Amino acid sequence: MSFLRIEGVKKSFGGNTVVRGFDLSVEKGEFISFLGPSGCGKTTMLRMVAGFETPTAGTISIDGQDVTAQPPNRRRIGMVFQAYALFPNMSVADNVAFGLKIAGMPAAQIRERVAEMLTLIGLRHLADRYPYQLSGGQQQRVALARALAPSPRVLLLDEPLSALDAKIRVSLREEIRALQRKLGITTIFVTHDQEEALSMSDRIVVMNEGRADQIGTPFEIYNRPKTRFVASFVGNLSLLEGEGTGDARAILAGDEVILPFPARGRVILGLRPEAASLQASADRTNQLTGRIDEVNFLGSLVRLRVAVAGAGVLVDMFNNPGNPPPGRGDIVTIHFAPADVQVLEHTPPELAIAAE
Ligand SMILES: Nc1ncnc2c1ncn2[C@@H]1O[C@H](COP(=O)(O)OP(=O)(O)O)[C@@H](O)[C@H]1O
Ligand SMILES: [Mg+2]
Repeated sequence: MSFLRIEGVKKSFGGNTVVRGFDLSVEKGEFISFLGPSGCGKTTMLRMVAGFETPTAGTISIDGQDVTAQPPNRRRIGMVFQAYALFPNMSVADNVAFGLKIAGMPAAQIRERVAEMLTLIGLRHLADRYPYQLSGGQQQRVALARALAPSPRVLLLDEPLSALDAKIRVSLREEIRALQRKLGITTIFVTHDQEEALSMSDRIVVMNEGRADQIGTPFEIYNRPKTRFVASFVGNLSLLEGEGTGDARAILAGDEVILPFPARGRVILGLRPEAASLQASADRTNQLTGRIDEVNFLGSLVRLRVAVAGAGVLVDMFNNPGNPPPGRGDIVTIHFAPADVQVLEHTPPELAIAAE
């Protein structure tokens, strides 16, 4: 029996349906991300789990108990928001103590728990400071401690890192994950940042227009995307249009590409930058020639964009100090293995019309 179950949940505001049918079972101690573009319903779904919104249909249960109609304060859920939602007129210690006071915990016990939480997030020395005296990263750590202090059953985080600098974001990411593992707390983390979701999660729910397009491990989501939306939202993907021959081949601007399986008619192929290389394959199949129109030096990687058949194909090379990458304007041949070609099932209507 899963610890947290969301079954057939829908949510409309007036006539506007924002969550169109959402099913998810989360195991105890699991770290789940809701990943999707702005406006796809992530926050709304999270707020229904917290109890701040009531589903239009469906049920939510925690630890075997139906909580769909329960108010937020009865659910024992901790929540952290994007904006630093600390109480500005309270010290760090008082912020962390807040939920414990509400719960009626005796003062001596509160002091002990606050000290424990502040030690956990490494901010015990700042107990008497006020939020305005803290950096953004420190404020979010306090918000995390405040959410965790009453020992919630589920931790919900709504884009908690998106207001922070890139460096802090990465270090806090690791800190949150380590803390979550240590406490074994069931967690849902909302983000529109695919790198965050890929690096932190046990499983990712990729959301698109109020639906879960795909639920899977980061490895599955990245390597075996089920829809075109997932394939292009998660990671970089070059899209190429070709004509499937019906056996496992497609013709792209005169060149032949071997596919992982047969396809007929117009096909859209996806290729990850790391699957394409400038090294010739032994059998010389799956090669496309084009002109480099962009060279992006990223440090450990160099990302080339090669114009092929009207599309830009990204090719990643490892940086090699002994071997500088080719330059803009150079003509190169790209190689890739048939197994690395993603044949994307959905052809968008605008492309279908353009083809007629
Ligand atoms: N209380 C509300 N009343 C009306 N519309 C809402 C309300 N809350 C959210 N929405 C709408 O629902 C959609 C999804 O919003 P939200 O869940 O915040 O998306 P996300 O968190 O993925 O960016 C948006 O179009 C938003 O305008
Ligand atoms: Mg949101």
